[in-house]
Amino acid sequence: MSTKPETAAAPPASDTVTIEVDGRKLQARKGQMIIQVTDANDIYIPRFCYHDKLSIAANCRMCLVDVEKAPKPLPACATPVMEGMIIRTQVVSEKAQAAQKGTMEFLLINHPLDCPICDEGGECQLQDLALGYGNDGSRYAETKRVVVNKNIGPLISTEMTRCIHCTRCVRFGQEIAGIMEFGGIGRGEHQEIRTFLDRSVDSEVSGNVIDLCPVGALTSKPFRFTARAWELDDHASISPHDAIGANIVVQTRRGDVMRVLPQTNEDVNECWIADRDRFSYPAVNSEERLIAPMIRRDGQWVETDWPTALEFTVQGLKKVAQKHGAEQIGALASSAATTEEFYLLQKLLRTLGSGNVDHRLRQSDFRDDADAPSYPSFGRALREFEALDAALLIGANPRKEIPLLNLRLRKAALKGARVSAINAQNYDMSYPIATDVVTVLEDMPAVVARVAVALASLKKTPIAAD
Ligand code: SF4
Ligand code: SF4
Ligand code: FES
Repeated sequence: MSTKPETAAAPPASDTVTIEVDGRKLQARKGQMIIQVTDANDIYIPRFCYHDKLSIAANCRMCLVDVEKAPKPLPACATPVMEGMIIRTQVVSEKAQAAQKGTMEFLLINHPLDCPICDEGGECQLQDLALGYGNDGSRYAETKRVVVNKNIGPLISTEMTRCIHCTRCVRFGQEIAGIMEFGGIGRGEHQEIRTFLDRSVDSEVSGNVIDLCPVGALTSKPFRFTARAWELDDHASISPHDAIGANIVVQTRRGDVMRVLPQTNEDVNECWIADRDRFSYPAVNSEERLIAPMIRRDGQWVETDWPTALEFTVQGLKKVAQKHGAEQIGALASSAATTEEFYLLQKLLRTLGSGNVDHRLRQSDFRDDADAPSYPSFGRALREFEALDAALLIGANPRKEIPLLNLRLRKAALKGARVSAINAQNYDMSYPIATDVVTVLEDMPAVVARVAVALASLKKTPIAAD
């Protein structure tokens, strides 16, 4: 596997243009859209359909700006910058403001405005922008259209009358997840966003459409009607569900976990998280979860308080150390524990006189212990996976096992990388597989060995005969 250079070289001067936005001179790259330049320079232009991780659809018209010499306002998300362009946003231009107000009036014609009972209330882009650009009354006296809700599975709630047809959810499926689950049907007033043939949404990263949806059309089903956005406290955290370490925000209300959202980190998870990162939090509040320490007395588990449990543990450890020696004490750490907990556990064990700490709870065969790394790693930064020109998956279904890495591999594959696979079964991948070898489990080592021999001969590297 080789990587292409991670960052492109700085553009030559001829690739740079100078534009003026609201009287500020800005440098931009040729081909950039106006909204990309204003975002990079902290100049706000309202938007619904534009998202910097998705292709440009330019279908909401909320980002209209006044461009000098253009006869009518232009969408900032779909207008490339040109040398000397003079742009006025809604802040200084009445023309841009009037255009945006017109768009808002148009969007609100069919919008139910049920903010008091809408889960998006308090964090809704339409609600926020309606405050700035909407009127206090509507000229529309006709009957509003109603779209019947769809049941698309246990994770995402739909209120499709609120949909503004921005197509972010459609583009996410097509472009990022690689599974087109949402689509638009019908025209004009009959247009609807829906899953095809009323199917459920099954992608392993489907919950991201909740964050992408700028209105309350797609909301989290487990979170539905349980809390309002302004009641929640944010806690930065790391997802424990795979080796990615996706950055998340755990939102709590009075100590209870209510919701989990992604925290953008371009080097790790970008702005996405997997569904298991997002939707596994109800387990924290489960009635089946142990929330008090328990001690086994006379073969029965009994609940106790922490001082008693800790004293019991100390006595138990002392007994083992005295009778069998401290080196007979061992600790198994859960991979879901934090780094701080790992540190404290090893410190405790070493202080007791034992070095027996392990985290491999599900491994029973340790024959390769001498060769296997004690700290397995990908050997490269996550974002570098996007720049691979070839990858070989061995016994792996990255879509399910490590979904966010799979999104990076998908990006590489779409850019032309050859991703091949040797698996014991045929997995449903979200990108084209160049060479797909499906073999019985017992034959996999031999197949992998043949690949290794072929690679060694290509690279003219000697390889041991056994
Ligand atoms: Fe209100 Fe936004 Fe919900 Fe529409 S989507 S009802 S504007 S909170
Ligand atoms: Fe946009 Fe939401 Fe409608 Fe999808 S459901 S098109 S994200 S408004
Ligand atoms: Fe530009 Fe929607 S954000 S048209």
